[in-house]
Amino acid sequence: AIDPQFNENREQVDEHEGHAVWGPVEEPEELGIHGTHVAVDFDICIADGACVEDCPVDVFEWVDTPGHPESEEKADPANEAQCIDCMLCVDVCPVDAIDVDAG
Ligand code: SF4
Ligand code: F3S
Ligand code: ZN
Repeated sequence: AIDPQFNENREQVDEHEGHAVWGPVEEPEELGIHGTHVAVDFDICIADGACVEDCPVDVFEWVDTPGHPESEEKADPANEAQCIDCMLCVDVCPVDAIDVDAG
């Protein structure tokens, strides 16, 4: 599962579509965590798609990640600022790849 303390245990190594990327990143096999308020561990995501389908405010957008061992696309928290903290995505992800900091 995603480490809920990722922002203390990892370093921000990049930015993507206006959100942080937390390392380590070693493309294409290791992609890190995308987002901060809505964080998706790309190395855990298996592209199930439940988060993309269920988010009421369309926070997630698919990004292609060819060559990643778990899946060739990931749910990117492209619109994390729109999140209303409903926690639906956290509940539906089958591999616990998402952390939402509703605090
Ligand atoms: Fe969308 Fe709710 Fe997840 Fe926020 S907590 S990203 S609003 S499903
Ligand atoms: Fe990935 Fe979980 Fe969403 S596997 S696509 S983050 S439901
Ligand atoms: Zn991203």
